[in-house]
This record gives sequence, C-alpha cells and structure tokens, in this order.
Amino acid sequence: MSGVQNNPALFDFHPTAAKARSTTTFVDNMRLPVHGWFRYSAGFSAQWAADLIRESDASRVLDPFAGSGTTVVAAEECGVRGIGVDVHPFVSRIGRAKLAWRADVDGYVTRANAVLARVELERPVTLPKAPLIAKCFPDEHSLTDLLRVRDAIEELRVGDDIDELLWLTFVSIIRACSPAGTAQWQYVLPNKTKSRVAEPYSAFSARAAIFAADMRAMQSAAHSSPEGVYIEGDARTLDGVPDGWADLIVTSPPYANNFDYADATRLEQSFLGEIDGWGDLRPLRKKLMKSATQHMGGWDPSESLDSDLVEPIRDELTAVFGRLNAMRKEKAGNKAYDLMIAGYFLDSAQIWHALRRASGDGVKVCYVVGDSAPYGIHVPVERWLGDLAVSAGFKSWSFEKVRDRNTKWKNRKHTHPLHEGRLWIEG
Ligand SMILES: C[S@@+](CC[C@H](N)C(=O)[O-])C[C@H]1O[C@@H](n2cnc3c(N)ncnc32)[C@H](O)[C@@H]1O
Repeated sequence: MSGVQNNPALFDFHPTAAKARSTTTFVDNMRLPVHGWFRYSAGFSAQWAADLIRESDASRVLDPFAGSGTTVVAAEECGVRGIGVDVHPFVSRIGRAKLAWRADVDGYVTRANAVLARVELERPVTLPKAPLIAKCFPDEHSLTDLLRVRDAIEELRVGDDIDELLWLTFVSIIRACSPAGTAQWQYVLPNKTKSRVAEPYSAFSARAAIFAADMRAMQSAAHSSPEGVYIEGDARTLDGVPDGWADLIVTSPPYANNFDYADATRLEQSFLGEIDGWGDLRPLRKKLMKSATQHMGGWDPSESLDSDLVEPIRDELTAVFGRLNAMRKEKAGNKAYDLMIAGYFLDSAQIWHALRRASGDGVKVCYVVGDSAPYGIHVPVERWLGDLAVSAGFKSWSFEKVRDRNTKWKNRKHTHPLHEGRLWIEG
C-alpha cells in the first residue's frame, strides 16, 4: 500500500487487509444486502468498514458522521455494538430505516403488496410545489404513478418499522424514475437526461423484492448481533453517546471542499413536499458542520480565530484566512472560503473534544478525509486535524494517503495536488 506518513509520531494501528481496500467508494455497497438500499454518494465502502471493525477487535464502534448508516450496519454484521450520529434529518431517516432490516419479512411483503393494490384505485394526486419536480418528471403519467405510490404508503401507515422500510423503498426509486441526470455527487441536473428510466410500479415492486431478500439474508447472517443505534444529532456535542463509550471510531466527515450536504437529498425531499425551493434548505445549513460557503451566512470568523480551541493551528489558520479573504476581494463571486475554512476548523476542534469525551482510553480512530485548496490556496487539512485531535486529548496521529483526487479547485489555475486518505488517531 502506498500510504504516506506525514507525521513522525509512532503509530502502529494499520490493519492490513482493511487498508488495502478502497475506503471511499460507495458504489460496491450497491451489491451488498441493506447497504445497497440507498445510493448515498458521500458514503464509503461497507466491506472496508467491516474489515476494519473485525481486525481491530472492537466491541463498540462510533460513527459521528453516520450518513446512510454504513458503519452502523457494518458493526451489526460484525456482531458488535454500533452508534451512528448525523445531523441531517432526511439522511438520518434513511440510516435509521436501514436498521429496520430485522422487521418481519412476510409482514413487509404483505404491506408492499397492499401499496401496489392501493395504487390501482387511481386516486387523484397533489403535485409537489417544488419547481424542481416538474423539471425532473416531465412525463405526467409516470409522475402521477409515482405520487400514487407515495400516497398509498402514507395512507397505509400503522406506526411501525415496516412503515419506514416502505418509505425507504419508495425514496430509493425516485431518482431511477426520473429521466434527469445527476452529477458525480448527488446534485440533480434536470437538463441532462439518462437513457434508462424506471417505470414506478415495477420499480417499487422490484425494490421491495430486493429489500425482502436482503432482510432475509441479514436475518440469517446477523440474527443475534446487537442492534445498532442511529441518533439524529450533532457531532460537535454527540449528545446521547455515553462518556467513554467507543473503542473504535470509523468515520468520514464532510470535507472542506464546498459540498453542501443540505443539497444532497433535495430531489427526494422536494418530491415528498418537505422543501419547495432553495430557501427551505437554510435551517439545515445552519445545523451542518461548516464545510461550504452556503453554510456561512452572517457568521463571525472571530468565533474561530479567537477561540482557545484552535490554539495549536491559530497562526497558520489566521494566515490562510487572511489570504483567502484577500482573494475573495479580488475575485468575482465573493466566495466566503475564508469563513468556511475558519468555521471548518473550529467545528473540527469541537468534534475532537466531543469524540474524546465519548471514547475510552486506547480508542482507535480512522477519519477518512481529503485536503482542500479553495482559490488555489492549500489547506493542510490532515495535519491541522491531527494537531487539533492531539490538543483535544488524543495521543498521536498519522496519515495514510489513499488516492490523489481532482476537484474543481484543481481546474482553476492552481496546481497543488490534492489527495484523500485515512487519518489514523490513537487515544
Ligand atoms: C461523508 S458523509 C458520511 C457518509 C457515511 N460514511 C456513509 O457511508 O453514508 C458526511 C456526513 O456528515 C453529516 N454532517 C454534517 N454536519 C454534521 C454535524 N454537525 N454532525 C453530524 N453529522 C454531520 C452530513 O449530513 C453527511 O451525511
């Protein structure tokens, strides 16, 4: 493995098989039971997470940025206790719904069939208000059919886990039923079209068959494993995670690269009537870890630059902030990368303190992260994160590069190579 060690600190926790696999691709998860129930582009490899859990002999695994729940489901597969935390309500609901794989399979199949029977009633539907939906679903018949499935699931709710499984079955077919393209991330591109578009009733029926088969497979493989826990909450506080709980932390935070997680499930949330337009994303943006310029409205950078929490990196952070601030004045677009970087590292410092509280002595941490270069100004993300972790009470860190990566920064005049890898921390 061509890992790089940027830190001379001694560190010997590198489970060999786990590190040889790709961490960052979610695509393989689509073939795995339960993991494949929703394609979350921000996710990492479930197989890698499971290998890491097994090889580290952990018994309590925490993921403070749980996303679609990859780590928590992997912990269940390994027979160990898992807690996942994510602040995004819709993504949290997806993660929690996956944990319902223990529900009665025959009951699920019966209820999925009841949904399909109910759509035959051809009831009138109410179109979602969001203009995005009309753009992404130009075929009225297909849109109506999809809305009938949505409504049937709501009408047949009884208040149990199977409701959530049916909800996720539906959520997971929305994109497949739209001819709109998507970017590498989960942005929607209404003006690009894809060649294969699914028909709603057969898509729902096919997904339900996959869910049922996966539930059966998981129930026979992991029937006695402890149930994972998914908390909708903030990594900066980790409320609900007991003191000293974790002996392994496996996670991937938002990168400081301007991806707006509030936007990740915009199509699905628009379809379900939870949001009508951009303005409705604002409350969630306020809650997310600061990692995109859209998260920064009205924020005062002195909160970070004057905080004791950033002490180990204060001089460098202030210098980078100053350069970004100067660039911002020069460039068109007035992008608040200066604020984003200041906010990102204050949030990160808070997260390390929360993780320190929630983990025991000797905890191992694997933090999958990439560096960043807004306006071409390089930010040594892993070194700063490592130093902040040590300042929060962890013992040492090292960085193992996994791959180089291209980002939009790279296309803009600067040539600083960017990479992605694993920040290994020992506590
Ligand atoms: C890289 S993704 C993690 C994906 C996950 N590993 C998976 O396989 O699905 C980062 C996650 O951090 C979440 N997040 C952002 N700010 C957060 C915060 N303050 N507390 C907890 N989670 C947060 C985002 O909603 C996003 O789901």
